[in-house]
Amino acid sequence: DGAAEAEATVRVPMNIALVKYWGKRDDLLILPLNDSISLTVDRLTAETTIRMVPGVGKHTVEINGKSVELSSNKRYQTVFDEALRLQRKRKEAEASSADSNGNDPPPIFYHFHVTSTTNFPVAAGLASSAAGFAAIALAIQRILRLDDSQANRLARIGSGSACRSMYGGLVHWRKGEMDDGSDCLAVRTEAAANWEDLYCIILVFDDGRKKVGSSEGMRRSRETSQLLKHRIESIVPQRIQQIQEAYTSRNFEQLARVIMADSNQFHAVCMDSTPPIRYLNEASWQLIDTVEEFNIGGIRAAYTFDAGPNACVIVQKENASQFLKAVLQTIQVPSEDLQVIGKELAEQFDVP
Ligand code: PMV
Repeated sequence: DGAAEAEATVRVPMNIALVKYWGKRDDLLILPLNDSISLTVDRLTAETTIRMVPGVGKHTVEINGKSVELSSNKRYQTVFDEALRLQRKRKEAEASSADSNGNDPPPIFYHFHVTSTTNFPVAAGLASSAAGFAAIALAIQRILRLDDSQANRLARIGSGSACRSMYGGLVHWRKGEMDDGSDCLAVRTEAAANWEDLYCIILVFDDGRKKVGSSEGMRRSRETSQLLKHRIESIVPQRIQQIQEAYTSRNFEQLARVIMADSNQFHAVCMDSTPPIRYLNEASWQLIDTVEEFNIGGIRAAYTFDAGPNACVIVQKENASQFLKAVLQTIQVPSEDLQVIGKELAEQFDVP
């Protein structure tokens, strides 16, 4: 019965943090300790369909053809619970107006069926959960007609960085001050129009799941790292501003300097935690060396790494093919994935 069921399909891109989010002040609401800023990478996407059904049953989630064990992934339950709470709130408001005009209230949904496909590896420090949860939030927003801040919150309680995937371009996630998270929102920066010429080259060195998940890592850093405190108080605010300035004025060198410094500081915080966390591997370091060498005489590429060994290198289009040449010459190809991704890009940019 179409009337008693609702479905929405959305395609949402991943984002890569230029100034990293690391550390929560509230684990349940996922309120971060610091602001972060990201670039939306529009070719890497999660396509997600959500079906909401009334009546008995249970939620199901399937990602890239595999069904997700929901009892060990509490985040989905949190998102569904919040969505159902918002639905109840809206129904209550609608019910009072429906009574007065005599119409039947619309059906109440109880269960979600989610199917999601990503065109990049899941949980390898590529913020796949960000695209996935942002897609879930946007699809639910359509079905339940939520406002943007409700949808943003829904994405965020699924995976913090997901709230940044709801917009294109340069996105600023403000940590906010309120305990209820009402002012904790991702917004498009006031910065000028999109910098179309920026490319993100993703190098997959390892597509296995990460050893220390971001929640566990953040908890460890918050509880034990002195460097994290210093970073939050004295470093992040000025970097957010520097990124916005560099992006607005199309100053690649400044942008690149801040991106690399922030990635390095994030990994230094991980190292500064007890027990220490190591996300970068040998291939990651080879890539760092390659970028450093490529940048002698002028900064033309910027690397950044999330909670895993895979690299994201940001270049302007005019330097992309030369950078790829440098990578293919210096890095031993450790996996099929690097070859595939390298080859696609190579074709696109005329690399032999
Ligand atoms: O949203 P989470 O819990 O996957 O955390 C993401 C943390 C980093 O990717 C390391 C940094 C960031 O800002 O995306």
